[in-house]
Amino acid sequence: MSADGPALLELSGVTRQFGGLRAVSNVDLSIARGEVIGLIGPNGAGKTTLVNVITGVHRASSGTVRFDGTDITRLKPYQAARRGIARTFQIVQPFPEMTVAENVAAAAMFAGAAAYGSEANAQALEHLRFVGLADIAHSRAASLTLAMRKRLELAKGLAMRPKLLLLDEVNAGLNATEVDHALHLIRAIAARGITVLIIEHLMKVVLSICTRVVVLHHGELIATGDTKSIVKDPRVVAAYLGRRYGAADSALRGVPNG
Ligand SMILES: Nc1ncnc2c1ncn2[C@@H]1O[C@H](COP(=O)(O)OP(=O)(O)O)[C@@H](O)[C@H]1O
Ligand SMILES: [Mg+2]
Repeated sequence: MSADGPALLELSGVTRQFGGLRAVSNVDLSIARGEVIGLIGPNGAGKTTLVNVITGVHRASSGTVRFDGTDITRLKPYQAARRGIARTFQIVQPFPEMTVAENVAAAAMFAGAAAYGSEANAQALEHLRFVGLADIAHSRAASLTLAMRKRLELAKGLAMRPKLLLLDEVNAGLNATEVDHALHLIRAIAARGITVLIIEHLMKVVLSICTRVVVLHHGELIATGDTKSIVKDPRVVAAYLGRRYGAADSALRGVPNG
């Protein structure tokens, strides 16, 4: 973990209300450059909402978000993207009538990482090669399997040339072979120097790639630490791991019990 220097992302007292519901409550979190942070917690804990606040999809009800030295609390999604924040969506939704390559080029243009036309298309092919989708670059996005759509999400994220990449359940619904491939890709992305925050239910994934883990429960950050201390933390076991795995031991092996 590179904890030196100013944080890349700094959340202070971030709260997001939906009517009477506090989906994210007073979250303080600092992420250093080069970290691969796991964000875990039960369904409804506020993980996706936190990503939405960081990316400007939802504005924080209170608190501040600082990124790379500037206050981005009030930025719109395309402005956050242009500053270097990219994300994938839990519910993958490519433009179905566009080709796979056109979807990636659109992401690059959204983030201002490429000009229109041939530059964006050339970059798109490069990112598709990286995620293993070059062969179907010119197929309609609607024809992709779930695993391919998840890889397309990664290619779109990379096309935005991010400093910070937020991955929202990129492995959900994938089989073991597909998860291994995704793990390999995420490692390669981190090796490029991109800071990664990954929302993930598979503890096997969290334990094998994350430098640090953050746990949300009812919108509150209840624990943060390295993977070893997190799986032993009684509050985390009670709020999340115990329910999913029965014991921290089986969590270490990544074997869900239901
Ligand atoms: N746009 C929204 N409007 C109203 N409530 C929302 C909205 N988005 C999320 N929520 C609520 O906020 C809580 C946290 O949701 P979410 O961030 O999706 O959790 P997670 O990703 O951890 O499963 C849930 O109770 C959810 O129903
Ligand atoms: Mg979610």
